[in-house]
Amino acid sequence: MALSKSPYKGTRDFFPEQMRLRNYIFSKMAEVSELFAYEPYDGPMLEELDLYRAKSGEELINDQVYNFIDRGDREVAIRPEMTPTVARMVAQIHREVAKPLRWYAIPNLMRYEKPQKGRLREFWQYNADIFGAPEGLGDVEIIQLAVEIMKSFGANNEHFEILINSRKLVDYVFTGPIHLEHEMTKKLYKLIDKKNKMPADKFSAEVSEITNDPIKTIIFEKYVALSSMKDIEIFFEETLEGTHGEEIFNKNVKPLMTLFSQLEALGLKDYIKFDPSIVRGLDYYTDVVFEIFDKHPENRRAIAGGGAYANLLAIFGEQPLGGIGFGMGEVPLTEFLKTHALLPDTSKQNIDLLIAYSDNESESTAMELAQTLRNHKIKVELYFGEAKTKKIFSYTDKKQPHFALILTKEEISSTEVVLRNLKTKELHKVKLIDVDKMIEMIKGSR
Ligand code: HAM
Repeated sequence: MALSKSPYKGTRDFFPEQMRLRNYIFSKMAEVSELFAYEPYDGPMLEELDLYRAKSGEELINDQVYNFIDRGDREVAIRPEMTPTVARMVAQIHREVAKPLRWYAIPNLMRYEKPQKGRLREFWQYNADIFGAPEGLGDVEIIQLAVEIMKSFGANNEHFEILINSRKLVDYVFTGPIHLEHEMTKKLYKLIDKKNKMPADKFSAEVSEITNDPIKTIIFEKYVALSSMKDIEIFFEETLEGTHGEEIFNKNVKPLMTLFSQLEALGLKDYIKFDPSIVRGLDYYTDVVFEIFDKHPENRRAIAGGGAYANLLAIFGEQPLGGIGFGMGEVPLTEFLKTHALLPDTSKQNIDLLIAYSDNESESTAMELAQTLRNHKIKVELYFGEAKTKKIFSYTDKKQPHFALILTKEEISSTEVVLRNLKTKELHKVKLIDVDKMIEMIKGSR
């Protein structure tokens, strides 16, 4: 039986057209990262499974990771995320390098997920992380970077928003006023993470089942209804007890308020929103957590997610070095750009000039001219073989180069050739030796 031509479930073949879109997306991400002085890095696509067991969380390990035993009996995983890898790399060198470390990467990752809109099994994920920044400043910069990346695709606050919360704040609510045990806390975290995907009454029923206490349920429901910094302040005034109230507030709540006011001062007020239901599914986050959400009602999904982690280096026996970062998948990003008509047209190759020749004697002249122009950064495609008019027109129709030049013996001996601008339909007579003129014309009309 013949083999299937389709790629493995949830993965994609990238034909040149898809590759052009991917390159466009990656180039914007890299461009903005470089503007913020982030440096590129990469790691291996296989890691020991234990790296993810340590801190990535149950869902990733139990349901999503692709793992196998290698020939040397090691438990190996195909990377499902980049954060453990970057932490492992930073753990090797952080003592010797200047801090903060600002790094970015665009790895392909694999997760065993049900393929659906915005979710696949193999996807590329832009990662930006900053390690060892002074308290709070890394958070501001990483969120600013996330906004700028979205803006580089033409998106603005009408298209997306950044929903922000803090694990410290949530931890405090769970262990402070609600006094929950560790197991219940874990269950509530999971439930909040799914809040937006379930009906409100089901959510409430599950909350009461977990807390098993009407007062705790009321406090919890009050917490999930908070929607601004002012709300938070009032909530804490009402629930903070005892002499340590101010200390607890300063430690768990104040940093989030400072982050909001700093982002507002940077003009990002309309991009950010406090959202008590953002807790993130990964175990290593310890402080600020955030997700970028599409605002379009028909595409309400996360485009990116991230947060701060204080103790990730500890799994390598290193002193704590705080980091914050985020991951942005090209799959949900593409859906987002499609939804808001922000995708560029990448259906065509974007060739400056097609050079053809109508007789074999002109072949070497055509080849020489093509190379001379390429030396001047003109993108030239050479049409092979004697060009027949009908064929060459159907070819240019498909490839749509900006200019075409069909050399003939007669033209070469008269030293003047015709450069056709296929977009404007203009014909320009140019001397064959006047390469500078050709370059000027082609570059001038880009
Ligand atoms: P995450 O929330 O698991 O976080 O993934 C971040 C983003 O990756 C998602 O918002 C989505 O854009 C994309 N993504 C995740 N799963 C898929 C999938 N199956 N198909 C397509 N895209 C997907 C992390 O991975 C953290 N390690 C991010 C991070 C970096 N935190 C700190 N630094």
